[in-house]
Amino acid sequence: MTHALGRLEDLPTDYRDSLTQHHLVPLWPSLRALLPPDLPARATLAVHWSYADIRPLLLKAGELTPIEKAERRVLVLANPGHGLENMKASPAIYLGMQLLLPGEWAPSHRHTPNAVRMIVEGEGAYTTVDGEKCPMGRGDLVLTPTGLWHEHGHDGTEPVIWLDVLDLPLVHYMEASYHLNGERQTVQPGRGDRAWTRAGVVPTAVFARSDKRYPLLRYPWADTRAALLGMAQDQADLDCVQVTYVNPETGGDAQNILGFYALMLRPGQALTLPARSPAQVFHLIEGGVDVAVCGKHFGLAEADTCCTPGYEPVTLTNRSPDQAAFVFIADESPLHRKLGVYEVR
Ligand SMILES: [Fe+2]
Repeated sequence: MTHALGRLEDLPTDYRDSLTQHHLVPLWPSLRALLPPDLPARATLAVHWSYADIRPLLLKAGELTPIEKAERRVLVLANPGHGLENMKASPAIYLGMQLLLPGEWAPSHRHTPNAVRMIVEGEGAYTTVDGEKCPMGRGDLVLTPTGLWHEHGHDGTEPVIWLDVLDLPLVHYMEASYHLNGERQTVQPGRGDRAWTRAGVVPTAVFARSDKRYPLLRYPWADTRAALLGMAQDQADLDCVQVTYVNPETGGDAQNILGFYALMLRPGQALTLPARSPAQVFHLIEGGVDVAVCGKHFGLAEADTCCTPGYEPVTLTNRSPDQAAFVFIADESPLHRKLGVYEVR
């Protein structure tokens, strides 16, 4: 049993005034809010963003705002629990749906927050990262880690839309968020990541391992999907058919702050993920999935996105009796593990 503590208004006004004058604050009136019993207070709400709602509004932005006036034409998926103006899905996750029209170019820059793009729709766009041209197809994951130059171009004929996932809220909170603009990059042939695309082997010229901090910048969906299908086929009794996007040189998470995963649900499968400390984002690449969390139910259609607060179990159900479903997940696990607060309940 936790007993009630003294309130601010219990203190004499002149005493409170003297504290304020000396830049002092009594702890006990705020102690329970800062350290609640058993479960942290979480502003993050479980929220569902339907792609059918986002898409027309994003295409309208393409008419209303030329790329030169936007640099990045993005609608931010903002969690009302954090206040829409704060533009965060969770304490550490920013989500944005970005539109690039044929012929447009989003100029080169680099910044301290880490970003990834999960491509939702369209063909012919590319992101040049650190001189490497990464084609963007549906379901591909393209990394633009902290400090690497990146720019987007589009040689196709239809609009291209992708989901940006950044650790911007955390880096901004740390007062470490800034960007630099650069010149258009020269694509450097032969600097590509193809050497890292086969599981279990890495390039070692004269027995030396690469010193690239981010060797693999593009994770093609065709490979990730094949890996999941292979796992499911090979291990028929495996409940959670899931892979993690990793740095192939270190085996660690692909980026430092947020974690990225792909999950396959067998036809009709219901899977309950345990309550874990980090907040999570679920983005449906393929199929139809129901999400149950915090007493809410979201019916995800393809390209829909939802976020869930930490410390809550999440049940995912594949609605189809005969088709597999594929979900992209982003979470705050690497951050929680580094800070030593990671928990599975
Ligand atoms: Fe960027």
